[in-house]
Formats: sequence, structure tokens, C-alpha cells
Amino acid sequence: MVAEQFEGEVRSAQELEAHPPEYRTAISKIVVSHAVNELKGALTFDEPAIRLAPTPKFKWLVSRNTMEEFGHHILFARLADELHAPWKDKKPLTLFDFPVVDWVDFGVIKATVDIAELIELDDLVRCTYLPLRKVAKDTYPEEKFHVGLGREILTTLLEEDPGNRTRVNATLSRLFPEALDFFGAPHSKNNELFVRWGLKRRSNSDMRAEYVRQVREFVEKYSLTMPDIPAKYAAERSEA
Ligand SMILES: [Fe+2]
Ligand SMILES: [Fe+2]
Repeated sequence: MVAEQFEGEVRSAQELEAHPPEYRTAISKIVVSHAVNELKGALTFDEPAIRLAPTPKFKWLVSRNTMEEFGHHILFARLADELHAPWKDKKPLTLFDFPVVDWVDFGVIKATVDIAELIELDDLVRCTYLPLRKVAKDTYPEEKFHVGLGREILTTLLEEDPGNRTRVNATLSRLFPEALDFFGAPHSKNNELFVRWGLKRRSNSDMRAEYVRQVREFVEKYSLTMPDIPAKYAAERSEA
């Protein structure tokens, strides 16, 4: 796909000066996107969910999750600031406008959307810009905890009332198409740039296909209903 790929390692924003501006631009796009989406997600999903949590134990777990999501924003925003990349006016993904109205929604979001973040981090933990690699490694176990929290919420809901299965499936079918958009357009100039500079290893389509695989695994484990893949992505899967 890309003929030449940067294989070096860059240890700091200062060291970046020795490289073409395109590399700095590529890193900036990634860190700005994470800075704004981590903040928006923390404000929209996580902070309100502390109130929605039905027991002290879940309030405690959601509080920890919320603290970590704000922490992720701080780490990525710090990287953006070091690169002098403005992030405050950048719009978050529409995924993060998804209205959380109840505890079921929150459980489905944590169990599935945070998988998408882990798939992104799978590439960033090996990226060529070491400050970004470090943040990816530091946030990785916390995102795993968030997915586990979502699963724990759903396990409890499904045990308490089998009728909750219908509600979980309904949220999943609304959320899934939005979550697929998280990975960006199939033929993306930005993605080519990220791969060229060794920031990401995979195409958007490959990451989306991996996401579908992991959601399907989750759906089967919990005997849920796998939502349809939107037509715009159905063809992409056979290309990937
Ligand atoms: Fe996060
Ligand atoms: Fe998370």
C-alpha cells in the first residue's frame, strides 16, 4: 500500500525538528483527535454514569473509569501542547453525541466502544514517536478495565432480568454503526500518512474488520444479536 515507511524512533518533540513537518502533522492529528474524543466521552458518557450506577460498588468502579478517561484526555492534550497543536476548537466524533439515557446504554458503550480504542492503541503502542507510544502503553490497561466494566454491567443486567436482553440489543443496534465510523473512511489520506510515518500499521478498513470480529465474539459470548453491517462498509470487508 505504501512504498516507504519510516522505521526510526523519535524520543521527544525537540527531536522532531530534524524530521519533515509532515511527520509532526501526522502525530498532531492523532494526539488532537484523542485529546478531544477522550474529553467528550468522559463528559458525555462517564461522568453522568456515576449517578446512573445502581449500587455503591458500581458507583466506585464508574468513578475510577471516569477519572481514568479524564486522565487520558490530560495525557493526550499534554502531547498536543508539546507539539503546539491546538486541540480546543477541534470537533469530536459524532459517536460521542450518542445520548446515554440509562445504565443499559452505559454498559453497552463501555463493553463495545472501548474495544475500538483498544484496537487503535494496538498500533500506537508500537509507534515511532516514543512519547505517544508511552501514553498508549499507559492508557492500554485502563481501557481494558473499561471494557471489563462494561461486561460486568451487562452480566449483572442480564442475570437480574432476562427482559434486559431486548434493551441491550436495542442499544447495540443503534450504537454499532456509529462505532464503525470511529475508524475513519475506507480510503483515507490521513491513514496513509499515519502508516507512512510508522504511527499506525493497519488501514482503517483492517482496523474496522478487526473491530467487527471482536464485537461478534462478544455478541456470541453474551447470546446477543449481531447488528447488520451498514452497506457502506459491507463492500469494504471483502477488499480488506
Ligand atoms: Fe480513554
Ligand atoms: Fe475507556
